[in-house]
Amino acid sequence: MGEAATIQADIFDPVELGDIQLANRIVMAPMTRDRAGPGDVPTEVMAQYYSQRAGAGLIVTEGTQPSPTGKGYWRTPGIHSAAQVEGWRKVAEAVHAQGGKIVMQLMHVGRAAVAANKDRSAETVAPSAIACPDPIPGPDGSLTATAMPRALATEEIAGVIAEYAAAARNAVAAGMDGVELHCASGYLPMQFLSSNSNRRTDRYGGSAENRIRFVVETLQALADAIGAGRVGFRICPGVAFNGMADVDPHETYAALLKAVDDLGLGYVHLIHIPLEGQDALDLVHEHWSGPVIENGGMTLESARDLLAQGRAAAVSFGYAFIANPDLVERFRKGVPLAKASRATFYSGAGDDRNGYTDYPNMEL
Ligand SMILES: Cc1cc2nc3c(=O)[nH]c(=O)nc-3n(C[C@H](O)[C@H](O)[C@H](O)COP(=O)(O)O)c2cc1C
Repeated sequence: MGEAATIQADIFDPVELGDIQLANRIVMAPMTRDRAGPGDVPTEVMAQYYSQRAGAGLIVTEGTQPSPTGKGYWRTPGIHSAAQVEGWRKVAEAVHAQGGKIVMQLMHVGRAAVAANKDRSAETVAPSAIACPDPIPGPDGSLTATAMPRALATEEIAGVIAEYAAAARNAVAAGMDGVELHCASGYLPMQFLSSNSNRRTDRYGGSAENRIRFVVETLQALADAIGAGRVGFRICPGVAFNGMADVDPHETYAALLKAVDDLGLGYVHLIHIPLEGQDALDLVHEHWSGPVIENGGMTLESARDLLAQGRAAAVSFGYAFIANPDLVERFRKGVPLAKASRATFYSGAGDDRNGYTDYPNMEL
Protein backbone atom coordinates (compact mmCIF):
# COMPACT_ATOMS: atom_id res chain seq x y z
CA MET A 1 0.00 0.00 0.00
CA GLY A 2 1.31 3.45 -0.86
CA GLU A 3 1.97 6.22 1.60
CA ALA A 4 -0.86 8.38 0.32
CA ALA A 5 -3.35 5.60 0.88
CA THR A 6 -2.21 4.65 4.37
CA ILE A 7 -2.23 8.08 5.99
CA GLN A 8 -5.46 8.33 7.95
CA ALA A 9 -7.22 11.55 7.26
CA ASP A 10 -10.45 13.45 7.55
CA ILE A 11 -12.48 14.36 4.51
CA PHE A 12 -11.82 18.09 4.98
CA ASP A 13 -8.04 17.68 5.15
CA PRO A 14 -5.91 18.73 2.18
CA VAL A 15 -4.18 16.09 0.06
CA GLU A 16 -1.83 15.84 -2.87
CA LEU A 17 -2.69 13.63 -5.81
CA GLY A 18 0.57 13.56 -7.73
CA ASP A 19 1.34 17.20 -8.60
CA ILE A 20 -2.18 18.42 -7.82
CA GLN A 21 -2.89 19.95 -4.39
CA LEU A 22 -6.45 19.57 -3.15
CA ALA A 23 -7.87 21.74 -0.35
CA ASN A 24 -10.08 18.85 0.78
CA ARG A 25 -10.62 15.21 -0.17
CA ILE A 26 -14.03 15.63 -1.77
CA VAL A 27 -13.82 15.20 -5.54
CA MET A 28 -16.59 15.98 -8.01
CA ALA A 29 -16.90 12.88 -10.21
CA PRO A 30 -16.99 13.29 -14.00
CA MET A 31 -20.50 13.76 -15.34
CA THR A 32 -21.61 14.05 -18.95
CA ARG A 33 -24.35 16.69 -19.10
CA ASP A 34 -24.72 17.20 -22.87
CA ARG A 35 -24.71 20.98 -22.89
CA ALA A 36 -21.75 21.90 -25.12
CA GLY A 37 -22.33 24.52 -27.81
CA PRO A 38 -21.88 24.38 -31.60
CA GLY A 39 -18.52 22.88 -32.57
CA ASP A 40 -18.59 20.95 -29.27
CA VAL A 41 -17.29 24.12 -27.58
CA PRO A 42 -17.80 24.60 -23.81
CA THR A 43 -20.21 27.46 -23.08
CA GLU A 44 -20.45 30.26 -20.51
CA VAL A 45 -23.22 28.27 -18.81
CA MET A 46 -20.83 25.35 -18.42
CA ALA A 47 -18.21 27.68 -16.91
CA GLN A 48 -20.82 28.88 -14.42
CA TYR A 49 -21.85 25.28 -13.57
CA TYR A 50 -18.28 24.23 -12.80
CA SER A 51 -17.44 27.42 -10.87
CA GLN A 52 -20.52 26.88 -8.68
CA ARG A 53 -18.99 23.51 -7.69
CA ALA A 54 -15.41 24.76 -7.15
CA GLY A 55 -15.63 24.06 -3.39
CA ALA A 56 -14.73 20.48 -4.29
CA GLY A 57 -11.09 19.65 -3.60
CA LEU A 58 -10.94 18.63 -7.24
CA ILE A 59 -13.42 18.69 -10.13
CA VAL A 60 -13.14 16.04 -12.82
CA THR A 61 -14.88 17.39 -15.92
CA GLU A 62 -17.44 15.54 -17.96
CA GLY A 63 -16.02 13.10 -20.50
CA THR A 64 -14.40 15.14 -23.31
CA GLN A 65 -13.50 13.75 -26.72
CA PRO A 66 -9.87 13.99 -27.91
CA SER A 67 -11.01 13.84 -31.55
CA PRO A 68 -14.22 13.94 -33.64
CA THR A 69 -13.96 10.14 -33.92
CA GLY A 70 -13.95 9.88 -30.14
CA LYS A 71 -17.41 11.44 -29.83
CA GLY A 72 -20.48 9.27 -29.38
CA TYR A 73 -23.08 11.20 -27.44
CA TRP A 74 -25.01 14.34 -28.23
CA ARG A 75 -23.48 17.72 -27.31
CA THR A 76 -20.42 16.40 -25.49
CA PRO A 77 -17.47 18.84 -25.50
CA GLY A 78 -14.20 18.30 -27.35
CA ILE A 79 -10.59 19.34 -26.75
CA HIS A 80 -9.17 19.11 -30.27
CA SER A 81 -9.98 22.56 -31.77
CA ALA A 82 -8.77 26.07 -30.95
CA ALA A 83 -12.33 27.19 -30.14
CA GLN A 84 -12.74 24.31 -27.70
CA VAL A 85 -9.48 25.25 -25.95
CA GLU A 86 -10.75 28.83 -25.59
CA GLY A 87 -14.07 27.54 -24.20
CA TRP A 88 -12.30 25.35 -21.65
CA ARG A 89 -10.02 28.25 -20.69
CA LYS A 90 -13.10 30.08 -19.40
CA VAL A 91 -14.09 27.01 -17.40
CA ALA A 92 -10.63 26.58 -15.86
CA GLU A 93 -10.36 30.30 -15.07
CA ALA A 94 -13.80 30.35 -13.44
CA VAL A 95 -12.94 27.36 -11.22
CA HIS A 96 -9.50 28.71 -10.30
CA ALA A 97 -11.00 32.10 -9.47
CA GLN A 98 -13.02 30.30 -6.77
CA GLY A 99 -9.90 28.55 -5.44
CA GLY A 100 -10.75 25.17 -6.99
CA LYS A 101 -8.81 22.62 -9.02
CA ILE A 102 -10.01 20.95 -12.20
CA VAL A 103 -8.79 18.11 -14.39
CA MET A 104 -10.29 17.11 -17.70
CA GLN A 105 -11.61 13.63 -18.28
CA LEU A 106 -10.48 12.39 -21.70
CA MET A 107 -13.17 10.11 -23.09
CA HIS A 108 -12.94 8.37 -26.45
CA VAL A 109 -16.10 6.30 -26.79
CA GLY A 110 -14.81 3.92 -29.48
CA ARG A 111 -17.74 1.75 -30.55
CA ALA A 112 -20.20 3.25 -28.05
CA ALA A 113 -21.32 5.84 -30.58
CA VAL A 114 -24.44 6.89 -32.45
CA ALA A 115 -23.46 8.17 -35.91
CA ALA A 116 -26.02 11.01 -35.82
CA ASN A 117 -24.44 12.39 -32.64
CA LYS A 118 -21.15 13.27 -34.31
CA ASP A 119 -19.66 14.84 -37.43
CA ARG A 120 -20.72 13.09 -40.60
CA SER A 121 -17.11 12.52 -41.55
CA ALA A 122 -16.24 10.99 -38.18
CA GLU A 123 -15.80 7.24 -38.29
CA THR A 124 -16.55 4.78 -35.51
CA VAL A 125 -13.54 2.69 -34.53
CA ALA A 126 -12.84 -0.01 -31.95
CA PRO A 127 -10.33 -2.77 -31.20
CA SER A 128 -12.54 -5.23 -33.12
CA ALA A 129 -15.50 -4.97 -35.49
CA ILE A 130 -18.01 -5.96 -32.82
CA ALA A 131 -20.92 -3.57 -32.26
CA CYS A 132 -21.87 -2.23 -28.84
CA PRO A 133 -25.04 -4.21 -28.03
CA ASP A 134 -26.65 -1.42 -26.00
CA PRO A 135 -28.43 1.46 -27.71
CA ILE A 136 -27.44 5.03 -26.79
CA PRO A 137 -29.53 8.23 -26.82
CA GLY A 138 -29.50 9.96 -30.20
CA PRO A 139 -29.89 13.70 -30.93
CA ASP A 140 -33.55 13.66 -29.83
CA GLY A 141 -32.79 11.67 -26.67
CA SER A 142 -34.43 8.45 -27.85
CA LEU A 143 -32.42 5.23 -27.66
CA THR A 144 -30.69 4.57 -30.98
CA ALA A 145 -28.59 1.69 -32.32
CA THR A 146 -24.85 2.28 -32.23
CA ALA A 147 -22.71 2.28 -35.36
CA MET A 148 -20.82 -0.85 -36.41
CA PRO A 149 -17.17 -0.05 -35.67
CA ARG A 150 -14.22 -0.56 -37.96
CA ALA A 151 -11.37 -2.45 -36.29
CA LEU A 152 -8.28 -0.25 -35.93
CA ALA A 153 -5.28 -1.47 -37.91
CA THR A 154 -2.18 -2.08 -35.79
CA GLU A 155 -0.33 0.78 -37.43
CA GLU A 156 -3.22 3.20 -36.71
CA ILE A 157 -3.10 2.76 -32.95
CA ALA A 158 -0.13 5.08 -32.40
CA GLY A 159 -2.18 7.81 -34.08
CA VAL A 160 -5.09 7.36 -31.67
CA ILE A 161 -2.67 7.54 -28.74
CA ALA A 162 -1.13 10.69 -30.25
CA GLU A 163 -4.62 12.27 -30.34
CA TYR A 164 -4.95 11.66 -26.62
CA ALA A 165 -1.53 13.20 -25.98
CA ALA A 166 -2.44 16.26 -28.09
CA ALA A 167 -5.71 16.54 -26.17
CA ALA A 168 -3.79 16.50 -22.86
CA ARG A 169 -1.49 19.27 -24.09
CA ASN A 170 -4.56 21.24 -25.18
CA ALA A 171 -6.18 20.71 -21.77
CA VAL A 172 -3.10 22.09 -20.01
CA ALA A 173 -2.92 24.96 -22.53
CA ALA A 174 -6.52 25.75 -21.55
CA GLY A 175 -5.46 25.98 -17.90
CA MET A 176 -6.51 22.54 -16.65
CA ASP A 177 -4.59 21.10 -13.70
CA GLY A 178 -4.33 17.72 -15.40
CA VAL A 179 -6.24 14.99 -17.21
CA GLU A 180 -7.98 11.75 -16.31
CA LEU A 181 -8.04 8.90 -18.82
CA HIS A 182 -11.50 7.31 -18.89
CA CYS A 183 -10.83 3.55 -18.89
CA ALA A 184 -14.27 2.52 -17.58
CA SER A 185 -17.89 2.27 -18.74
CA GLY A 186 -17.18 0.33 -21.91
CA TYR A 187 -15.47 3.13 -23.88
CA LEU A 188 -12.41 2.71 -26.11
CA PRO A 189 -9.75 1.93 -23.47
CA MET A 190 -12.05 -0.57 -21.77
CA GLN A 191 -12.93 -2.07 -25.16
CA PHE A 192 -9.23 -2.92 -25.43
CA LEU A 193 -9.09 -4.25 -21.85
CA SER A 194 -12.15 -6.54 -22.05
CA SER A 195 -11.72 -9.97 -23.58
CA ASN A 196 -15.16 -9.98 -25.26
CA SER A 197 -14.73 -6.67 -27.14
CA ASN A 198 -11.07 -7.19 -28.02
CA ARG A 199 -10.63 -10.12 -30.41
CA ARG A 200 -7.38 -8.86 -31.90
CA THR A 201 -4.58 -11.21 -32.82
CA ASP A 202 -1.80 -8.58 -32.84
CA ARG A 203 0.15 -7.34 -29.81
CA TYR A 204 -2.91 -5.36 -28.60
CA GLY A 205 -5.16 -8.42 -28.17
CA GLY A 206 -5.32 -11.91 -26.73
CA SER A 207 -3.54 -12.24 -23.37
CA ALA A 208 -4.14 -9.77 -20.52
CA GLU A 209 -0.59 -8.49 -21.14
CA ASN A 210 -1.61 -7.60 -24.68
CA ARG A 211 -5.09 -6.23 -23.85
CA ILE A 212 -3.65 -3.75 -21.35
CA ARG A 213 -1.08 -2.47 -23.86
CA PHE A 214 -3.29 0.27 -25.35
CA VAL A 215 -4.04 1.77 -21.91
CA VAL A 216 -0.43 1.46 -20.73
CA GLU A 217 0.91 3.15 -23.87
CA THR A 218 -1.74 5.87 -23.66
CA LEU A 219 -0.97 6.63 -20.01
CA GLN A 220 2.74 6.74 -20.84
CA ALA A 221 2.04 9.15 -23.71
CA LEU A 222 -0.10 11.37 -21.46
CA ALA A 223 2.65 11.37 -18.83
CA ASP A 224 5.24 12.29 -21.47
CA ALA A 225 2.96 15.08 -22.75
CA ILE A 226 2.08 16.87 -19.51
CA GLY A 227 3.99 15.17 -16.66
CA ALA A 228 2.98 11.95 -14.91
CA GLY A 229 1.89 13.75 -11.73
CA ARG A 230 -0.88 15.48 -13.66
CA VAL A 231 -2.34 12.29 -15.10
CA GLY A 232 -4.94 10.06 -13.46
CA PHE A 233 -7.03 7.20 -14.80
CA ARG A 234 -10.45 5.80 -14.06
CA ILE A 235 -11.33 2.12 -13.91
CA CYS A 236 -14.33 -0.01 -13.01
CA PRO A 237 -13.31 -3.67 -12.87
CA GLY A 238 -16.22 -5.97 -13.69
CA VAL A 239 -18.68 -3.39 -15.02
CA ALA A 240 -21.07 -4.73 -17.69
CA PHE A 241 -22.13 -1.33 -19.09
CA ASN A 242 -21.97 -0.96 -22.90
CA GLY A 243 -21.64 -4.72 -23.39
CA MET A 244 -18.50 -5.36 -21.35
CA ALA A 245 -17.90 -8.98 -20.24
CA ASP A 246 -14.27 -9.62 -19.36
CA VAL A 247 -13.43 -13.27 -18.86
CA ASP A 248 -11.27 -12.44 -15.81
CA PRO A 249 -11.34 -8.83 -14.55
CA HIS A 250 -9.00 -9.69 -11.66
CA GLU A 251 -6.29 -10.83 -14.05
CA THR A 252 -6.81 -7.88 -16.41
CA TYR A 253 -6.77 -5.13 -13.79
CA ALA A 254 -3.98 -6.68 -11.71
CA ALA A 255 -1.85 -6.70 -14.87
CA LEU A 256 -2.81 -3.10 -15.72
CA LEU A 257 -2.20 -1.68 -12.25
CA LYS A 258 1.15 -3.44 -11.94
CA ALA A 259 2.23 -2.22 -15.37
CA VAL A 260 1.53 1.45 -14.63
CA ASP A 261 2.44 1.52 -10.94
CA ASP A 262 5.93 2.87 -11.53
CA LEU A 263 4.94 5.61 -14.00
CA GLY A 264 4.42 8.08 -11.12
CA LEU A 265 0.85 8.89 -12.12
CA GLY A 266 -1.29 11.19 -9.97
CA TYR A 267 -4.07 8.79 -9.01
CA VAL A 268 -6.33 5.92 -9.91
CA HIS A 269 -10.06 6.71 -9.71
CA LEU A 270 -12.03 3.58 -8.85
CA ILE A 271 -15.74 3.21 -9.57
CA HIS A 272 -16.28 0.55 -6.93
CA ILE A 273 -18.87 -2.07 -7.80
CA PRO A 274 -19.29 -5.57 -6.38
CA LEU A 275 -16.87 -8.00 -7.99
CA GLU A 276 -16.99 -11.74 -7.53
CA GLY A 277 -13.94 -12.95 -5.64
CA GLN A 278 -11.48 -10.30 -4.44
CA ASP A 279 -13.04 -6.91 -3.70
CA ALA A 280 -12.11 -4.25 -6.27
CA LEU A 281 -10.55 -1.85 -3.75
CA ASP A 282 -8.47 -4.68 -2.27
CA LEU A 283 -7.37 -5.54 -5.80
CA VAL A 284 -6.29 -1.94 -6.38
CA HIS A 285 -4.30 -1.78 -3.14
CA GLU A 286 -2.60 -5.08 -3.87
CA HIS A 287 -1.20 -3.90 -7.21
CA TRP A 288 -1.02 -0.09 -7.02
CA SER A 289 0.96 2.05 -4.58
CA GLY A 290 -0.21 5.55 -5.56
CA PRO A 291 -3.22 7.61 -4.44
CA VAL A 292 -6.72 6.17 -4.86
CA ILE A 293 -9.95 8.10 -5.36
CA GLU A 294 -12.87 5.90 -4.35
CA ASN A 295 -16.28 6.37 -5.99
CA GLY A 296 -19.75 4.90 -6.03
CA GLY A 297 -22.86 5.40 -3.92
CA MET A 298 -21.05 6.89 -0.96
CA THR A 299 -22.42 9.00 1.86
CA LEU A 300 -20.50 11.45 4.06
CA GLU A 301 -20.36 8.73 6.74
CA SER A 302 -19.12 5.91 4.51
CA ALA A 303 -16.60 8.24 2.88
CA ARG A 304 -15.26 9.35 6.26
CA ASP A 305 -14.94 5.74 7.43
CA LEU A 306 -12.99 4.81 4.34
CA LEU A 307 -10.60 7.77 4.71
CA ALA A 308 -10.18 7.10 8.44
CA GLN A 309 -9.17 3.54 7.59
CA GLY A 310 -6.58 4.88 5.13
CA ARG A 311 -8.30 2.97 2.30
CA ALA A 312 -8.38 5.97 -0.07
CA ALA A 313 -6.66 9.32 -0.45
CA ALA A 314 -9.88 11.02 -1.59
CA VAL A 315 -13.50 10.18 -2.40
CA SER A 316 -15.69 11.32 -5.27
CA PHE A 317 -19.37 12.11 -5.54
CA GLY A 318 -21.32 12.32 -8.76
CA TYR A 319 -25.04 12.46 -8.23
CA ALA A 320 -24.73 14.53 -5.02
CA PHE A 321 -22.91 17.35 -6.84
CA ILE A 322 -25.72 17.80 -9.39
CA ALA A 323 -28.26 19.30 -6.98
CA ASN A 324 -25.79 20.47 -4.30
CA PRO A 325 -23.30 22.91 -5.82
CA ASP A 326 -22.03 23.70 -2.31
CA LEU A 327 -21.77 20.02 -1.35
CA VAL A 328 -18.58 20.51 0.69
CA GLU A 329 -20.20 23.24 2.80
CA ARG A 330 -23.32 21.11 3.30
CA PHE A 331 -21.15 18.25 4.50
CA ARG A 332 -19.32 20.61 6.87
CA LYS A 333 -22.55 21.88 8.35
CA GLY A 334 -24.33 18.52 8.26
CA VAL A 335 -27.34 19.85 6.38
CA PRO A 336 -29.52 17.47 4.33
CA LEU A 337 -28.78 17.13 0.64
CA ALA A 338 -31.10 18.20 -2.19
CA LYS A 339 -32.18 15.57 -4.74
CA ALA A 340 -31.37 15.94 -8.41
CA SER A 341 -33.99 15.59 -11.13
CA ARG A 342 -33.09 12.81 -13.59
CA ALA A 343 -35.09 14.45 -16.37
CA THR A 344 -32.45 17.16 -16.72
CA PHE A 345 -29.30 15.05 -16.33
CA TYR A 346 -28.61 15.16 -20.06
CA SER A 347 -30.80 18.01 -21.28
CA GLY A 348 -32.31 21.23 -20.07
CA ALA A 349 -35.26 20.78 -22.46
CA GLY A 350 -34.61 23.98 -24.39
CA ASP A 351 -32.75 25.91 -21.71
CA ASP A 352 -29.33 24.54 -20.75
CA ARG A 353 -29.58 26.14 -17.31
CA ASN A 354 -32.56 23.99 -16.29
CA GLY A 355 -31.47 21.36 -13.80
CA TYR A 356 -27.88 22.49 -14.30
CA THR A 357 -26.96 25.93 -12.93
CA ASP A 358 -30.29 26.61 -11.21
CA TYR A 359 -29.77 24.38 -8.15
CA PRO A 360 -29.29 26.89 -5.31
CA ASN A 361 -26.73 26.87 -2.51
CA MET A 362 -28.14 26.08 0.92
CA GLU A 363 -29.93 28.85 2.76
CA LEU A 364 -27.69 30.47 5.35
C1 LIG B 1 -25.50 12.29 -15.28
C2 LIG B 1 -24.28 11.44 -15.10
C3 LIG B 1 -23.28 11.48 -16.08
C4 LIG B 1 -22.11 10.73 -15.93
N1 LIG B 1 -21.09 10.86 -16.85
C5 LIG B 1 -19.88 10.27 -16.63
C6 LIG B 1 -18.76 10.56 -17.45
O1 LIG B 1 -18.80 11.37 -18.40
N2 LIG B 1 -17.59 9.92 -17.17
C7 LIG B 1 -17.48 9.01 -16.12
O2 LIG B 1 -16.40 8.46 -15.90
N3 LIG B 1 -18.53 8.76 -15.32
C8 LIG B 1 -19.71 9.37 -15.52
N4 LIG B 1 -20.76 9.16 -14.65
C9 LIG B 1 -20.55 8.31 -13.45
C10 LIG B 1 -20.17 9.17 -12.22
O3 LIG B 1 -18.90 9.80 -12.40
C11 LIG B 1 -20.11 8.29 -10.94
O4 LIG B 1 -19.16 7.26 -11.14
C12 LIG B 1 -21.45 7.68 -10.59
O5 LIG B 1 -22.48 8.66 -10.61
C13 LIG B 1 -21.40 7.01 -9.21
O6 LIG B 1 -21.05 7.95 -8.20
P1 LIG B 1 -22.17 8.55 -7.23
O7 LIG B 1 -22.86 7.35 -6.59
O8 LIG B 1 -21.47 9.40 -6.24
O9 LIG B 1 -23.13 9.32 -8.09
C14 LIG B 1 -21.95 9.88 -14.79
C15 LIG B 1 -22.98 9.82 -13.84
C16 LIG B 1 -24.13 10.59 -13.96
C17 LIG B 1 -25.19 10.53 -12.88
